[in-house]
Amino acid sequence: MWNANARVRVLIPAEALSARISELAAEISRDHAQTERLVVVGVLKGSVLFLADLVKQITVPVELDFCQTASYGSGQEPGEIHLKKDVELPLRGADVLVVEDIVDTGWTLRTLLDLFRHRRPRSVRLCTLLDKAEAREVEVPIDYCGFRIPRQFVVGYGLDWGERYRQLPYIGVVESASEEIP
Ligand code: IMP
Repeated sequence: MWNANARVRVLIPAEALSARISELAAEISRDHAQTERLVVVGVLKGSVLFLADLVKQITVPVELDFCQTASYGSGQEPGEIHLKKDVELPLRGADVLVVEDIVDTGWTLRTLLDLFRHRRPRSVRLCTLLDKAEAREVEVPIDYCGFRIPRQFVVGYGLDWGERYRQLPYIGVVESASEEIP
């Protein structure tokens, strides 16, 4: 249940997100200066706010697409990622940039990377706003990372807790939320 009184402690303020995203966009633009076709793939839903702010500052032309994953619930092997929505654009020959909100165990990006590589793109690079490196179970080569954060559950700027908090303009940690288990 949504608890309007839950306190969210700010971990990364909006201004810091904005400044870091400008740096990432500049780096991505530089690295793709020679690209013929850059396809930016946002992983729904968590990456949407980050992706919107990022692409506005990328200076080479991009094509936008989205995919969505879900992981199988408890009782099954952890790390089994199921594709709920595939990209619609062809990836063959393209430079693909997968944009994710957070890398935790690594299984989501590992699965997407393997899937997209089979479509014979020219390159696949991974960009994440947040990296919880301590939680990693499987290796993923992250090309662009906004912030490394400790192993704690964060919300805001696209990241949710039971579908809430995505609209916050900053990254935060929910405090005093004992009534709020989604
Ligand atoms: P991974 O497959 O374990 O790397 O998990 C990636 C996905 O788990 C992210 O795209 C998020 O949807 C979700 N996730 C992992 N950690 C958090 C968190 O701290 N807050 C919100 N969502 C998270």
